[in-house]
Amino acid sequence: MTWTLKDSNDWKVVEGILDISTVKAIYHLQSRGIIGHLSGVVKEGKESTIVVADDKEGNKIIVKIFKIEASQFQKMQKYIVGDKRFVGMKLGRRSLVFEWCRKEFSNLKRADAAGVNVPRPIGFYRNVLVMEYIGNGGLSPKLKDAQLESPLKVFNAIVRELRKLYQDAGLVHADLSEFNILVKDGVVVIHDMGQSVEKSHQLAHEFLVRDVNNLCRYFEKLGVCRDKEKVLDEIIKT
Ligand SMILES: Nc1ncnc2c1ncn2[C@@H]1O[C@H](COP(=O)(O)OP(=O)(O)O)[C@@H](O)[C@H]1O
Ligand SMILES: [Mg+2]
Repeated sequence: MTWTLKDSNDWKVVEGILDISTVKAIYHLQSRGIIGHLSGVVKEGKESTIVVADDKEGNKIIVKIFKIEASQFQKMQKYIVGDKRFVGMKLGRRSLVFEWCRKEFSNLKRADAAGVNVPRPIGFYRNVLVMEYIGNGGLSPKLKDAQLESPLKVFNAIVRELRKLYQDAGLVHADLSEFNILVKDGVVVIHDMGQSVEKSHQLAHEFLVRDVNNLCRYFEKLGVCRDKEKVLDEIIKT
């Protein structure tokens, strides 16, 4: 089969960064009409590469590419083993990364359907996830870089999102911190949900306690002090 990216400019974006099989996966998503042109790498992380692209209508979208060789195999297994949605899956490195990508897509889908503020998931294929672009012109800042008029209001808004995530989507984020929350026009958007687990997962409570601790630790520095047990109750209690 012959294959190519849609435009030679697309190559400039991915050249030297992505391996051939990832380029093919992007091409597959382009041929399905999910991705249009790629416009630039936003963030080159240890385990993923974030690329801004546009869709068929020219709206900006985010393409998150999970690295296969750099994946933290042990860590990923901890979050997948014990999640009843992934019983019986093959655990080779490639298939684990593909499952991880599928898992982030399905977590975002569930959260979105439950009305949690997350980037709307658009599609995925192999190790490539496509989702809504959170930003106005430029990307929205992470919580850690955002100027907050009222830290208390933002804290309470995050707790409301976590409650919806737990009660209505049945999920625990499990990697919550000021790095995985974006602030767009004063509204919080929770993202990076590959490791999120169902509340029935045997470590779900441990992960939730850690999420609440991370959140409180950050907001204490901004002068917001809330009793962690009460925050936990607000999320869990029906
Ligand atoms: N949908 C999105 N909209 C806007 N910015 C995003 C989006 N997804 C990721 N980003 C940006 O890319 C960074 C890394 O993405 P993230 O999903 O957290 O990957 P990692 O697993 O590498 O932490 C985020 O901190 C954020 O700045
Ligand atoms: Mg992150």
